[in-house]
Amino acid sequence: MKRSIRNPAFWTQAFLYKRKEKRKLIGKNPEKIFLDLVVKNLSKTKSLLDIGTGLGKTPISLAKHTKDAWGIDPARKLINYAKLRAKKLHIKNIHFEVADGRNLPFEKEKFDIVISQRGPVTDNVGFAREAFRVLKKGGQLIEITIGEQDKENIKRTFGRGQNYYGLINKVSSAKNKKQLLKKAGFRKIKTRYYNLTEYFAAKHDLILRLLRTPIIPNFNLKKDYKLINKVINKYSTTKGIKTNAHRLIIIAKK
Ligand SMILES: C[S@@+](CC[C@H](N)C(=O)[O-])C[C@H]1O[C@@H](n2cnc3c(N)ncnc32)[C@H](O)[C@@H]1O
Repeated sequence: MKRSIRNPAFWTQAFLYKRKEKRKLIGKNPEKIFLDLVVKNLSKTKSLLDIGTGLGKTPISLAKHTKDAWGIDPARKLINYAKLRAKKLHIKNIHFEVADGRNLPFEKEKFDIVISQRGPVTDNVGFAREAFRVLKKGGQLIEITIGEQDKENIKRTFGRGQNYYGLINKVSSAKNKKQLLKKAGFRKIKTRYYNLTEYFAAKHDLILRLLRTPIIPNFNLKKDYKLINKVINKYSTTKGIKTNAHRLIIIAKK
């Protein structure tokens, strides 16, 4: 199966892993900074859309701050789970739909805020144009995505990885994504990088992360065992296996 951010089947499998890896971030988690930022821009009169919602955790946690919240994802199993979870929690102002971010099933100018938490919204201009279309005038797109330097030491050891080209050639995702958003019609685009130290508690925690994400394309436990051991030997510390988490937060206006 293709380990790609755009493969719903991969994410369905990844999200349904029961175990979660043990790991620690040093500093304030950018995912939390992103959520705080979204909450700051929400109110009970606003409608929110989450693109690439997965299990719907983000809009479920935000619904209480909105008039209504929507989540879309092409992975039907994940959307079914999200619907069930919202029902169990008796959240009435939330809606989930199976949909592709490049072809949203909504009329233009429906939403005040469009968000994406490691989803595909700035992967290409097709996604960005759709986000722009469904946003009201003056509405905001707020995204958190993976920075090109994420897991730098691991990707360098493997000689491959998610956005390896950007890492090796120092191509700034922020710059590229800014251009792409401008092309889609957005203005007042702000970007900010966060780079934190991250420790995985043990070898199996790191392996679990590599299995559940597209950090290393075609990661294969058998074939890549030597490389995993190389990472462990080189980057094990008393606090765990040391690496980094690189994130990019983007805010843009329609
Ligand atoms: C890294 S996961 C993030 C999920 C969720 N936002 C979270 O933070 O838990 C990326 C999500 O993007 C979804 N995705 C893949 N292709 C997509 C597309 N064409 N349109 C919208 N979402 C897509 C995947 O199915 C997956 O759920």
